[in-house]
Amino acid sequence: MELKRARYDSSILSFQQKRGQESSAFLIPFLRADMRLLDVGCGPGTITATMAPHVKSVVGVDIQARSIAAANELVGSEGGGNFSFVEADMTALPFAAGEFDAVFFHAVLYHLDTPTLTKTLSEAKRVLCPGGLLATRDADVGGNVLYPDLPGLRTSLDLWQRWYEHDEPDAINFGRRQGEILRANGFLPIWTGASFVNHSMDDETRRETIEDAKQSLKSLGPKLMEKGLATQLELAEAVTAWDAWGNKPDALYLRCRCECVARKSSISG
Ligand SMILES: C[S@@+](CC[C@H](N)C(=O)[O-])C[C@H]1O[C@@H](n2cnc3c(N)ncnc32)[C@H](O)[C@@H]1O
Repeated sequence: MELKRARYDSSILSFQQKRGQESSAFLIPFLRADMRLLDVGCGPGTITATMAPHVKSVVGVDIQARSIAAANELVGSEGGGNFSFVEADMTALPFAAGEFDAVFFHAVLYHLDTPTLTKTLSEAKRVLCPGGLLATRDADVGGNVLYPDLPGLRTSLDLWQRWYEHDEPDAINFGRRQGEILRANGFLPIWTGASFVNHSMDDETRRETIEDAKQSLKSLGPKLMEKGLATQLELAEAVTAWDAWGNKPDALYLRCRCECVARKSSISG
């Protein structure tokens, strides 16, 4: 699936191009050919398109006009005919109650504040039919595997952790809490699991990983130092360590994604 788009967030686009299939793989066994599926926060639509052959129809929604413009370039070019995209806010979906059999959130819920998360899940529940499925896949920083254990890499992980703890404490281990969160919002979890995004699988991916890590540390650096959360020395050590990691032929960086499938009650209302 080759996308030809001049302007889109290159990291999300590159991620989706490489990982479209694996991002939704856990959900495929739960899908049926007669289902109407909604992909919420679909970004440029590549993951949405990979699910289309498994269902009757799939609609992707995103609040960003440029996401929907990029996604619409897939319609027609992919030749599926059963997927479409709508610009919409997930806290006020433009769909009737019970219009979908399944709703999917990929990398969308983990950074929401509690009121937004509650409203988003309530909207998902409204547009789901009785007994409909809700599926989520989100990061869990505590489950990541980074090898070998070079001292500067540990510093690097620690610096990210310090920033998350300061900025988005609930996001760090969101993945493992998905079942609990869905249950608290009135869904019944029926399956949980996890898979890894392999950021070390080939030379090109490793190069991208090193660049992304260094870029992230460089942009976080001033913010961490301003809050007294890092020293210049720690930042320099962390940035340098990524090149050393790249020189190890068996180095690994596997980022954990927790997955959950839950059901809305089959009693309507
Ligand atoms: C991290 S991206 C994930 C995109 C895609 N699901 C993926 O995994 O590649 C989060 C997406 O959620 C969308 N989003 C954020 N707030 C939203 C809202 N209130 N309503 C709809 N989409 C929203 C963003 O525009 C963005 O495309």
